[in-house]
Amino acid sequence: MEEKILKLKEQLENELSKVQDAAELESIRVAYLGKKGCITELLKGLKDLSDEEKKSFGQKVNLLKGEVSAKIDDYKVKLAEAEVLKEIEAMPEFDMSIPANLERGSYHPITLVQRECEKVFKSLGFVVEDYSEIVSEYECFEALNIPKHHPARDMQDTYYLENGQLLKTHTSAAQNAIYRKYKDALINEGKPIKAIFPGRCFRNEATDACHENTFFQMEGVMVGKDINISNLIFFMKTMLSEVFQRDIKVRLRPGFFPFVEPGFELDINCLICGGEGCPSCKQSGWLELCPCGMIHPEVLKAGGIDPEEYTGFAFGLGLTRLAMMKYGVKDIRDLNSGVLKSMEQFTDGE
Ligand code: PHE
Repeated sequence: MEEKILKLKEQLENELSKVQDAAELESIRVAYLGKKGCITELLKGLKDLSDEEKKSFGQKVNLLKGEVSAKIDDYKVKLAEAEVLKEIEAMPEFDMSIPANLERGSYHPITLVQRECEKVFKSLGFVVEDYSEIVSEYECFEALNIPKHHPARDMQDTYYLENGQLLKTHTSAAQNAIYRKYKDALINEGKPIKAIFPGRCFRNEATDACHENTFFQMEGVMVGKDINISNLIFFMKTMLSEVFQRDIKVRLRPGFFPFVEPGFELDINCLICGGEGCPSCKQSGWLELCPCGMIHPEVLKAGGIDPEEYTGFAFGLGLTRLAMMKYGVKDIRDLNSGVLKSMEQFTDGE
């Protein structure tokens, strides 16, 4: 019996040393440890032995069983390692001379339009500010002369967070912070506040080709001594003519926003028909582009600025709208779709 065990061990070593792959290893496992395997047979043979022999031999066979199964497991690991090494060796060496894959992403049309607007406004002495997407109710409404329960709040269906803050519904929500940041330079050094602040806005809208719950605006404010509406018209006309690379006509119509007085809707002449009237401009020759107005005295006050001494204008340019016009995007939802191919077509892979 002892001899049998020794022999089996030797035989196993021998067989294992020749194993090439997992399938061969598995057949060895079955041959030794399977239901009809030789070790299982040895255990079955125990029943013909005396009690004394059963005990000592049984122990040895069980030990052998443990050893064999551990050896086979070891081999399994070794085989797997050898497999990986083989794969690594088969890999081609890294070749720096192979040309790169030139398929690159492109800037988003909104990013492109935003940058163009920023460039123009910077050249006119405006600073570009960034602001949080999560703001307080105060910043989004109260500081803008929209008290709680005022019907004007219904104009912007708002996403509230559990902590009482909200996703900003318009970039105007940053106005208060901007006034506070620059008011000292205005009051003490006489430096007018000239800032633009682009940003993502959110409203609980049912989406269709013209409406999205997530869109971009660019707010602009200028506050100083004797700032008036003709300053606003000049800056808007200059910026838009630059962005569209042609002379843009603008007109103002009255518009209501609680944070401006007077308030306007700024229209531009339709770029598709040139002003003659077409389906895009509903035959009017004009496109609504940018609400704006003179900053309401209450809003200046909330920002720490004396409305008796200073005046200013504010506008809320629809960047998403502008990008759609510039690149001829017909469905606003394309802009948030994340489909790179559809983005590229507007930007020539720029
Ligand atoms: N915040 C306004 C809106 O999103 C637009 C606006 C900005 C109007 C600045 C006037 C002045 O509806």
